[in-house]
Amino acid sequence: MSNEIEAIKDPGLPAHVHRAADTDPVAEKRVERQVAILFAVSAIGTLLLIYSYIFVPQDLFIFVPVMGDQNAHQLGLGLGMAISLFFIGLGAIQWARTLMPDTEVIAHRHEFRSPDDEREDFVKTVKERAGTVGLGRRSLIKKSLGAALGLSALSPLLLLRDLGPVPAKELEKTSWKTGTRLVTDPGNRPILASDLEVGAVAQVLPAVAEGTERALSDIGKDAVLLIRLRPEDFQLTPEKYAMTHDGIIAFSKICSHMGCAVALYEQQTKHLLCPCHQSTFDVTRGAKVIFGPAARPLPQLDITVDSEGYLIARAPFSEPVGPSFWERNSQ
Ligand code: FES
Repeated sequence: MSNEIEAIKDPGLPAHVHRAADTDPVAEKRVERQVAILFAVSAIGTLLLIYSYIFVPQDLFIFVPVMGDQNAHQLGLGLGMAISLFFIGLGAIQWARTLMPDTEVIAHRHEFRSPDDEREDFVKTVKERAGTVGLGRRSLIKKSLGAALGLSALSPLLLLRDLGPVPAKELEKTSWKTGTRLVTDPGNRPILASDLEVGAVAQVLPAVAEGTERALSDIGKDAVLLIRLRPEDFQLTPEKYAMTHDGIIAFSKICSHMGCAVALYEQQTKHLLCPCHQSTFDVTRGAKVIFGPAARPLPQLDITVDSEGYLIARAPFSEPVGPSFWERNSQ
């Protein structure tokens, strides 16, 4: 016994009452089995959850007395989870109440950090007491607890499936293709290069066939901002400049930080501003980030005009649009 913890000899308290399992080996075995059964029921609950998730159809309804018609899939998930957690807790309580050492002690309190030798003494005592809990000896409890804990840890993995497919590749693709016309949003009307005056800004989308409904997710990925400057305003590399048309430049509207819509254009400074965290992009320098948390410029769409003078995409986006965490290959 350490200096800090002493067994109570005669503190004026009622005499300590020993539990049956402390004095009777038969009773000890009995409660050990009880604890193991509780952990086993917990494991059955987890198996029920897994079975319901994988094998019970989501549209199957069954009649349950008092509750009426119930969705069997959800009922199985809920019951399985409840049984799993409830019985693992019950087993732990029963184990602590009936089998773990119940020596009554006095623990002296110190207000400040204990001296090092006392701390070492404490660690030693804890190690000794960990041995006396008897986990090494009680292999039945150890195995059933291990099975129950292991299975209950599996259930969150199943729920990961509900998050849907891994999005990386899907988010890299937009509807822009070589030759796709840029159209007004709303309106779906093609845009003549001459429609845009210097200083103008417009949100555009890729053209879709008449009567075709756009998916909302496509609008988010495909939205492009079209801005017209004087060609001499640009400070672009030759490759980036070749992607513009007569002073018109096009960028993805999705912020490269967290995916908000970059919605504000400052005509004087020629800056695009994301309202979410104030990332600021310089249009004249290819939407280079000049302020804020965004880590890369807005992707630029390569544009030109077709034989009728309408603006079209010369090529799809050459890099993924959207937040940097959607993909891992671009800087
Ligand atoms: S989402 Fe645009 S700055 Fe954060």
